[in-house]
Amino acid sequence: MIFKVKTDKQTKVVFNFNFKNIGKIAKNYNKLVLIVDHNVYRHHTSVFAGLESVIVVEGGENTKTLEQSQLIINQLLAIGVDKNSLLIGVGGGVITDLVGFVASIYKRGIPFGFIPTTVLCAVDAAIGGKNGVNQGLIKNCIGTINQPDIILYDYLFFKSLPHVEFANGFAEIIKYGCICDVELFNYLDANNLQYFINSPIALQMLIQKCLLIKSAIIRKDPNDLALRKTLNFGHTIGHAIEKNLDLKHGFAVSIGMIYASQLSVSKRGFSKIDSNRIASLLEKYELPISAQIKSSSVLSLISNDKKKNGEEIDFILLKKLGESEIVKLSFDEIKQDLKKIFNESNSISVK
Ligand SMILES: NC(=O)c1ccc[n+]([C@@H]2O[C@H](COP(=O)([O-])OP(=O)(O)OC[C@H]3O[C@@H](n4cnc5c(N)ncnc54)[C@H](O)[C@@H]3O)[C@@H](O)[C@H]2O)c1
Repeated sequence: MIFKVKTDKQTKVVFNFNFKNIGKIAKNYNKLVLIVDHNVYRHHTSVFAGLESVIVVEGGENTKTLEQSQLIINQLLAIGVDKNSLLIGVGGGVITDLVGFVASIYKRGIPFGFIPTTVLCAVDAAIGGKNGVNQGLIKNCIGTINQPDIILYDYLFFKSLPHVEFANGFAEIIKYGCICDVELFNYLDANNLQYFINSPIALQMLIQKCLLIKSAIIRKDPNDLALRKTLNFGHTIGHAIEKNLDLKHGFAVSIGMIYASQLSVSKRGFSKIDSNRIASLLEKYELPISAQIKSSSVLSLISNDKKKNGEEIDFILLKKLGESEIVKLSFDEIKQDLKKIFNESNSISVK
C-alpha cells in the first residue's frame, strides 16, 4: 500500500513485512541505520545479528529529548551517514518520534522509516509525520511534520509486548471510534482486550483499519490546520497529566477522553449515556478513568500546550459517538469546567 499526503512525498506501507528482508530495503540506500528500542533489542537480539549499523536506545518518555537527539546525531556522523542513507526506528512511539525528528534535522533531512513494535505506535505514532521531542514537562514542544518514507509492520515483534502495552495502545484505537467511526466503537464494545491479544489476525486487521482512518485524515490535513486536530481528542488534558503523573501515553489520553466527553455533555449536548459508554469501554480495555492531580498543575501545563491559540484552546468535543468537532474554549471557561467536572466526579479528584 502507498499513501500520499498533499505535501511532498509518498509513504510506502508494508503489512506483514518479514524483518529478515530488511536487506532488500537497504539496497536502494548508501547505508541503513537501525535505531532500536532497548527492550525490543533485548527480546529480539538474534534478528539484528549481522546488521552493520544498529544503535540501541534506552526507551521511555525521558529519551525524547534534544540531548538524546544530539547523541544519536554524533553516532550518525561517526559512522558516516549521508543524505542518501536510510534511518529506521524500531520501537514504540518514543523511538519513532525521536528517529523521525533526528532524520528530519540531520543534514537538513534524510530518508527515514519505522517498524512499530507497540500497538500504540502501530495504530498512531508511526503514522502522519509528527516527529519531535519534549522540553522539560512540555510534551512534543520541539518537532517537525515530515512524513516517513516507509512503514513496515512485522507483527512478530509484538510477541514480547507486555500486556499493559496492549491496553496502552487501545486508548488511541478507542479514540478513533469516538471521533469518527461509531461502527469501530461498537465493534470494540462487542469484544475485549484479551480477545485481541489472543487473536493476532483480528489485531492486525484492527491495526490496518486504524492506519486507514488516520492516513485518510492526514491526507486531507497534513499540517494540522483543521480536521487533523480532531485526533487530539483526549490529548489536551492527556498531555498535561502524562509527564506530570508519569503515566503511559494511552493511559493519560484515556483520562483525557473522560474529561473531554464530560465536557462534550455540558458544552455540546453530547448524550450522557454515551459518555458513560466511553468510560465503560475504556475500563473494559483496562485503561484508567481517574487520576489524582491538582487542577492548578493541569491548568499551568495546558497553558503551554501547542494547541493553545492566544487565550483560547482548540478543544475536541463530541457531538455524538463517531462525530467530533473543534471548539474554541477560553482559558477561563476551561478553568471553571475543570473544577466543576472534576468535583462532580467521584473518581477524579482535584485539590
Ligand atoms: N507522532 C505521533 O503522531 C504520536 C501519536 C501518539 C503518540 N505519540 C508518542 O508516542 C509515545 C508513546 O509511545 P508508546 O506507548 O509506544 O511508548 P514507548 O515507545 O515508550 O514504548 C512503551 C514500552 O514498551 C517497550 N517496548 C516497545 N516495543 C516492545 C516490544 N515489542 N516488546 C517489549 N517491549 C517493547 C518500550 O521499551 C517501552 O518500555 C509518546 O511519547 C507519545 O507522545 C506520538
